Amino acid sequence: MRAHPVIIDCDPGHDDALALLLAAGDPRLHLVGVTTVAGNQTLEKTTTNALRILGLAGVTDVPLAAGCDRPLTGELTVAEDIHGVSGLDGPELDVPAGAVAGVHAVELMRRLIADAAEPLTLIATGPLTNVASLLRDHPEVRAGIRRIVFMGGSTERGNTTPYGEFNIVTDPEAADIVLRSGLPVTMIGLNVTHQALATTEVIAEFRGLGTRAGDVCAELMTFFAGTYRRVFGFEHPPVHDPIAVAHVIEPSIVRTVTVPVAVELAGTYTRGATVVDLHGRTTGVPHADVAVGLDVDAFWRLLMTAVRHVGR
Ligand code: RIB
Ligand code: CA
Repeated sequence: MRAHPVIIDCDPGHDDALALLLAAGDPRLHLVGVTTVAGNQTLEKTTTNALRILGLAGVTDVPLAAGCDRPLTGELTVAEDIHGVSGLDGPELDVPAGAVAGVHAVELMRRLIADAAEPLTLIATGPLTNVASLLRDHPEVRAGIRRIVFMGGSTERGNTTPYGEFNIVTDPEAADIVLRSGLPVTMIGLNVTHQALATTEVIAEFRGLGTRAGDVCAELMTFFAGTYRRVFGFEHPPVHDPIAVAHVIEPSIVRTVTVPVAVELAGTYTRGATVVDLHGRTTGVPHADVAVGLDVDAFWRLLMTAVRHVGR
């Protein structure tokens, strides 16, 4: 079976790190490229963290490029309270000698799509600034994009504002461009990702792998647990981003419905909200495939298997 070619655009970030390890460890994906965006931390830190995780996974042949260091409009507000000063607090991770491509992430994505033998799936696990910039500045790439699968938004409440999820709130205009692109788009929101909790049993299973990657995942989730307990009162931390990757590997892990989705751009208290019309009655608004269900056990089996394979 031919592996599914993907580009991952991310802002590592504890859960982005698990998403990268899943992509690196599952043979059903061909990780064609990794791009970074400002979000959880500054662009410099998310890029360094992506290098760290690719180094941990033993990935040396995948191009990595840094992208936008701020949202399309407004200023960047990082999530230091959640991911720490480094953006990947918890484990000690060397920065490998791996090189960051000397081109902007948008240019790397454009080149990889143009050179690909078949359309690529773009998996975005951070603010959609890079992806929106690609679609805005290089409309010729559209035919080379199979689907955009992004972690972001929610059919219910938010996590950064009452109705806004971090990736969308950070860059609402970018999310609006992606959702209005006319390309196949899948939204994996908090309503689903909050079901994937890194419990003490999960952390113990990471430790039980007896590998450096397993230990790093345990340390990442231990730190993440502390911030989610302190900031959100969660007993265990949800791992948002790897669910977007898991859905590309095994679509049945996530159940979706195709419904209208709008991004609120002007609301005083609701800017960055994803307005998901589950009854499909809203007109004049593009439809997206929206995640509404998760096979939690299948997800954890998939992620644990991939982490076990990583770095071997
Ligand atoms: O709201 C959760 C999302 O915001 C995740 O992608 C997390 O890494 C942060 O980027
Ligand atoms: Ca992220």
